[in-house]
Amino acid sequence: MSSTTLTGTLPDTAAQPCSDATTTRTARARGWLATLPGRVGAALLRCLVAGWRYAWTVYAVIRLGLLWPSFCGNTSLAEQRTRSRDGNTKITVHRVPRVKLTEVSQHGWRMRVKVRPGQHLGHYLDAAAALRHLARAQAVKPRELWDHPGFLEISVLRRDPLRRVLERPRELAPGRIVVGATETGAPLVLDFREQPHWLVSGATDSGKSSLIAAGLSALAPTSAVLVSWDLKFGIEAEPFRPRFTDVVTTAAGVATWCQRLLALAGSRAELLKALRVGSVSEAEDVHGIALRRVYVFCDEVAELATKHDDTNPDELLRQVLRLTQLCRAMGIHLIVAGQRFGSDLGKTVTSIRAQLGGRVCLRVNDEETAKMVLSGLDLDVHQRAMTLPHKGMAIVQRRAEWEYARASYQTGPERAAIAARHGDKAISWQQLLDDDATATANHHDTERGQR
Ligand SMILES: Nc1ncnc2c1ncn2[C@@H]1O[C@H](COP(=O)(O)OP(=O)(O)O)[C@@H](O)[C@H]1O
Ligand SMILES: [Mg+2]
Repeated sequence: MSSTTLTGTLPDTAAQPCSDATTTRTARARGWLATLPGRVGAALLRCLVAGWRYAWTVYAVIRLGLLWPSFCGNTSLAEQRTRSRDGNTKITVHRVPRVKLTEVSQHGWRMRVKVRPGQHLGHYLDAAAALRHLARAQAVKPRELWDHPGFLEISVLRRDPLRRVLERPRELAPGRIVVGATETGAPLVLDFREQPHWLVSGATDSGKSSLIAAGLSALAPTSAVLVSWDLKFGIEAEPFRPRFTDVVTTAAGVATWCQRLLALAGSRAELLKALRVGSVSEAEDVHGIALRRVYVFCDEVAELATKHDDTNPDELLRQVLRLTQLCRAMGIHLIVAGQRFGSDLGKTVTSIRAQLGGRVCLRVNDEETAKMVLSGLDLDVHQRAMTLPHKGMAIVQRRAEWEYARASYQTGPERAAIAARHGDKAISWQQLLDDDATATANHHDTERGQR
């Protein structure tokens, strides 16, 4: 907006030439003031809704506290004694497991139970359905507390925060992105510093591509380099095409990218050795040298194991395995999605899967697949993965822990708009190499200056 237009609308005292910066600031302030009532109204409404939900949770907790002894008696978690005297029968409950409330939120609560002698997690899993009805809750989840033997934690999810996910995909810090919400209403964070590679598995229409799209939306505004391996003709990658450095649709293209990324990992390893640090994250934290992170998204991973053009699938999988093994600390991340990624697809698949430490299991059709993705978790969790109620809802595993989560959902046009807005941040492979070279040269200059 020109300064002439603006000064015309201001009072006489302000009718004097002013700089472009001042006019922009004034216009911005006016815009902000104009939207203030709407934003205050929305914030007030949010507070009211949260307060109302919180009050209901408190009511439900008090109700459960009053009914807990009789619940334990009816479900054999406590001892129930019947006494008859003068024709009257009296039932009393003894040795009720002690409970302590550990967290209350608008969506539900957590409580810690002291298990009685002879009891274990199985007893509480058997009683979970009855507790769900008693607490009038969406879900009840008992779990072991590894650092507190003798106690269990029961999470009660009164209201389902995953019915409608309002979490905006975004980057929290380099390598840490929000892609949705978890069962407690907290943001669902994919932490690539902790787990450099991720496996997303689920049946057709379970939400794999939508989860990938949420990840891309979070990364689009950042300086990350995004690459798509989409051997399903590149259809899913299409909305984000302007933001991708490359969309690979052939096995030969994937092989080329494996070679490129391995070469990049090699040159970054030299820099890390010179800096005496173990990873790209450490180089940034300790020396302030920020190398661009590279994220490779591979939708329908089974296609990598299928024979395309002249590329040998076994050889290709071997290269992918090398990539996952050697690039863990180099800021090069692989996010793989597929219906099934089992050993029937190739000899190296099991080894690749072992390298994909981050696990997201959407709805699956068979227990075998759930077991493959959520390895090391109980049978009960595998069965839950087959009955997830919403599209896009998933079980996210973090070592021995797991939680329900759901990705934020963007429609095709929304995805295309995000990609178009941030299309200028897509850089070429050559520019990535140049940026790395500049970072290395800067480091050498600083070192020479210090000497
Ligand atoms: N997180 C989500 N929230 C809401 N709806 C979703 C979500 N994820 C998927 N869906 C719905 O499911 C449909 C299929 O999702 P998609 O990601 O294409 O599945 P897949 O890639 O596993 O076949 C989408 O068109 C959308 O309607
Ligand atoms: Mg898909």
